[in-house]
Amino acid sequence: MPVKGLPKLCRSKKVQVSGKHKTINGYQITNKGAVLLELKNKPGRVDGLEITVLMDDYAGYGSDFLGSHGVAILLKVSSGGTVKRILMDVGKFSLPLFNNMALAGVAASDIDMLFLSHCHRDHTWAIEDFLKQADKQMPIVGHPEIFRDNFRLEPFVQNIGMTAKTTKERISDLGGQLLLTSEAFGLVEGVFSTGEVERATDFEGKGIGTYNLKEGEMIPDRINDDMSIVINIRDRGLFIVTGCSHAGIVNIVKHSVNITGINKVYGIIGGFHLVNADDETIEKTVHHLQKFNPEIIVPGHCTGHKAQCVISAVFGERYKGMHAGMKLNIDAV
Ligand SMILES: [Fe+2]
Ligand SMILES: [Fe+2]
Repeated sequence: MPVKGLPKLCRSKKVQVSGKHKTINGYQITNKGAVLLELKNKPGRVDGLEITVLMDDYAGYGSDFLGSHGVAILLKVSSGGTVKRILMDVGKFSLPLFNNMALAGVAASDIDMLFLSHCHRDHTWAIEDFLKQADKQMPIVGHPEIFRDNFRLEPFVQNIGMTAKTTKERISDLGGQLLLTSEAFGLVEGVFSTGEVERATDFEGKGIGTYNLKEGEMIPDRINDDMSIVINIRDRGLFIVTGCSHAGIVNIVKHSVNITGINKVYGIIGGFHLVNADDETIEKTVHHLQKFNPEIIVPGHCTGHKAQCVISAVFGERYKGMHAGMKLNIDAV
């Protein structure tokens, strides 16, 4: 059951911590959990949010940014004079990532924390090159199952997970400090990982035909490691940032409201994974999203053309198509 309120964020039971350092960028790391001290017993909020899309399948008309299959979204959050930069995902290839970072004026060493939305290659495979560029200790938040092999069987058997490219040990060697938890979790004041998302709707989160290998058998995978970031912007409400939304975008928004206890959804950005959805699923999804009444909705990556068209038609000027190089600035009221 989802838990109302945020104290849960401060008593996560399933955190695993790797690396030698007990304090990273102001985070106190313990064997029982990783807690930003100021978050204890208060939800927190940010005064400003700047979103820069560093990777998307689409680069936009006339742009020097490169489009490439995947997601990397930079979140610059400011709160009480403190500024933190959190990067969700790194995309599949470092060449377009680094090109787009240079154009956006962002260095890898500027990033305070990396958040991995799930294991898939289009979100994770550039991680080694990214950590080499950053050349520093970096907290990396993800789900404990993110290092499983994850197989696609068509058109041939292949591991499309992060493990096809790297290992926990290699990431630690490159300075990554892994904070693996399936619980909702405070990243910095006013910014949270959803943790593992409750699958509440009957039309979402059924998997995409990938498999996990368990005791010699291929078991259908529901991508339980899919997690999103939620930012509570002062006087505006929640901004929800997704990777692929394998848990279902409606489930993710519902879950974000449940774990924060905040009903106002200000914005949603990321992949909605409706690219192969039938008309009925797209209609149901958009119908439910309307109920949350977001003021900005920015689908991209795996959302698919048909769903983009429906969302654009329904939300009108509140809709923006996500693309590499896109920048959104949201200040508190
Ligand atoms: Fe994915
Ligand atoms: Fe994806």
